[in-house]
Amino acid sequence: MTAPLVTRVAKADAAAVADAARVLAAGGLVAFPTETVYGLGADATDGRAVARVYQAKGRPAFNPLIAHVADLNAAQALGRFDADAARLAAAFWPGPLTLVLAKTAHCPVADLATAGLDTVAVRMPDHHVARDILAAFGKPVVAPSANRSGHLSPTTADHVLADLGGRIDLIVDGGATPVGIESTIVGCLGEPILLRPGGLPRAAIERTLGRKLADTPAAGTDDAPLAPGMLASHYAPRTPLRLNARRVEAGEALLAFGPTPAEGAGHANSVLNLSERGDLIEAAANLFSQLRALDAAGAGVIAVMPIPANGLGEAINDRLARAAAPR
Ligand code: TXA
Ligand code: MG
Repeated sequence: MTAPLVTRVAKADAAAVADAARVLAAGGLVAFPTETVYGLGADATDGRAVARVYQAKGRPAFNPLIAHVADLNAAQALGRFDADAARLAAAFWPGPLTLVLAKTAHCPVADLATAGLDTVAVRMPDHHVARDILAAFGKPVVAPSANRSGHLSPTTADHVLADLGGRIDLIVDGGATPVGIESTIVGCLGEPILLRPGGLPRAAIERTLGRKLADTPAAGTDDAPLAPGMLASHYAPRTPLRLNARRVEAGEALLAFGPTPAEGAGHANSVLNLSERGDLIEAAANLFSQLRALDAAGAGVIAVMPIPANGLGEAINDRLARAAAPR
């Protein structure tokens, strides 16, 4: 665990908004109000900042996060809008609706934030404090609800402080959030589908689309969103993984961790190191991009060195175990 932080709390004014943008730009964590619940914000394009979000929340797994944006241009830089998505955005943004879209070719959102998926969840919140911070920062911000994993979503700055004090840099206090439950999530990757019920009623969405929304077979909740391999269809490499590898066999690729590569690394097909320093935040930030790169290297097997189980190691190991599971 890293040393506790001093968590500052600031009333939402122009100085606090500027402060929030500075902290985000430095890779720090800022809790801020949206119209639904308080979000725990980090620079969506910075894998290490995103890793700190999972660490602060104590999430045992890497669920994909929502990228929050200030305007439609920013949203279109991240995801591809089909006709349904464009209609929903025009009708309900800003507002408590998140759209899951195919990533654009140059989507700058960190692989860790989308959990390695080719899709990205995008939302334009309807709260002046959130919008001011997003505009001042000028880049997309991931913001899961600002609570520890398994706790209730916070609707006041006091809730956030009680749960995340000492774990994040700044809380911008903009009073109680009006909606109080998370945004409704709709997947727009073909037939529109309700991925999570939330602050925008299904009926309003169906009226706008002129038809019914398909249902998630097992609609998710916030902290246990969608069963792995279902709609979020978790990223998994095609190359088989061999976990807890202490030596590399001929023809294998190596995903290393720490300063001492596994025995036989010299004749590996290719080698990438999640973190030579043995830093789990850096390792989390590199996980999905390095898996992709090794998957493309043409090895028969990707050998993965042991990853410690503490801190973010739990989530890293969770994801590696899923990726290694037979399909
Ligand atoms: O109201 C809200 O949406 C709040 C406020 C702070 O904006 N945020 C929020 O974020 O609830 P979070 O990270 O707790 O919820 C993200 C949800 C999860 O259920 C996740 O599985 C889903 O979005 N999600 C994110 N990216 C996805 C993707 N590419 N495909 C499918 N589901 C995705
Ligand atoms: Mg939550």
